[in-house]
Amino acid sequence: MRAAIELTDLHYTYPDGTPALNGFSCQVRKGECIAIVGPSGAGKSTIALCMTGLVLPKSGTVRIEEIELAKNNLKQLRARVGLIFQNPDDQLFMPSLFDDVAFGLVQKGIALEAVREKVKKTLSEMGLQGLENKFPGHLSGGQKRLASLAGVLAMEPEFLILDEPSANLDLKARRTLIQRLADLTNTRILLSHDLEMVLDLAGRVILINQGKEIAEGDPEQILGNPELMTANNLEVPHSLLPHPSSHRRAKTGSSIKGRLPE
Ligand SMILES: Nc1ncnc2c1ncn2[C@@H]1O[C@H](COP(=O)(O)OP(=O)(O)OP(=O)(O)O)[C@@H](O)[C@H]1O
Ligand SMILES: [Mg+2]
Repeated sequence: MRAAIELTDLHYTYPDGTPALNGFSCQVRKGECIAIVGPSGAGKSTIALCMTGLVLPKSGTVRIEEIELAKNNLKQLRARVGLIFQNPDDQLFMPSLFDDVAFGLVQKGIALEAVREKVKKTLSEMGLQGLENKFPGHLSGGQKRLASLAGVLAMEPEFLILDEPSANLDLKARRTLIQRLADLTNTRILLSHDLEMVLDLAGRVILINQGKEIAEGDPEQILGNPELMTANNLEVPHSLLPHPSSHRRAKTGSSIKGRLPE
């Protein structure tokens, strides 16, 4: 079966001359939850930006279902892909939290009453009820993260790209988010240093470094490989280390893992 997302041989260098992608390729099947991991500067956020056409690769192709990314179809592509930016300040731009979450829904032409209901429900799911009138720029770091998640999740995009979605969240909010993401059935791409979250959610991991893929496969095998992780400036996540307190995986890991529906 043809992959839902196909990135082929992407190359990109930022205008200041920094090379970010050096031939990155990957395929994602519909309904799959995958994670792209790699050290700081490896190119994760650049991949996320390429998938929404915010960065146009110098060479290579981005295909999402039948749409092959080009300057003239960015709108069409973005209507189907939701991106959570690594920095929430890049995402939040309206004068109130309510307006920010409502913005995309209103653009979609949804009736105002339904928009109100959806915003209320999503803010409550994210633990942000009561903050509807607050200026997003004045939210705390974690609240900003939740606000940007709310705006994208409310849209129920077919394809969800999440760049460090758990950054700045307190433990309870992080756990709630992981469960929320686990319950989704849409295609999800996580880009993250939160390797415990990756283990909870991803059915497959792609390890990248210097803008290209290094390894791909079962999350526990990739992230649990000390040589591979060390060679790429990463560390084996705590729950995969061989010591007695590492029983957590067995207890919670497999139950919510975002594998493809059987
Ligand atoms: N706007 C920019 N201008 C110039 N160089 C940039 C820009 N954004 C990123 N880079 C560079 O491109 C490379 C890839 O950066 P990118 O943000 O994609 O990495 P990342 O894997 O997301 O890192 P992190 O884990 O720290 O978020 C890095 O060398 C970075 O310094
Ligand atoms: Mg990044």
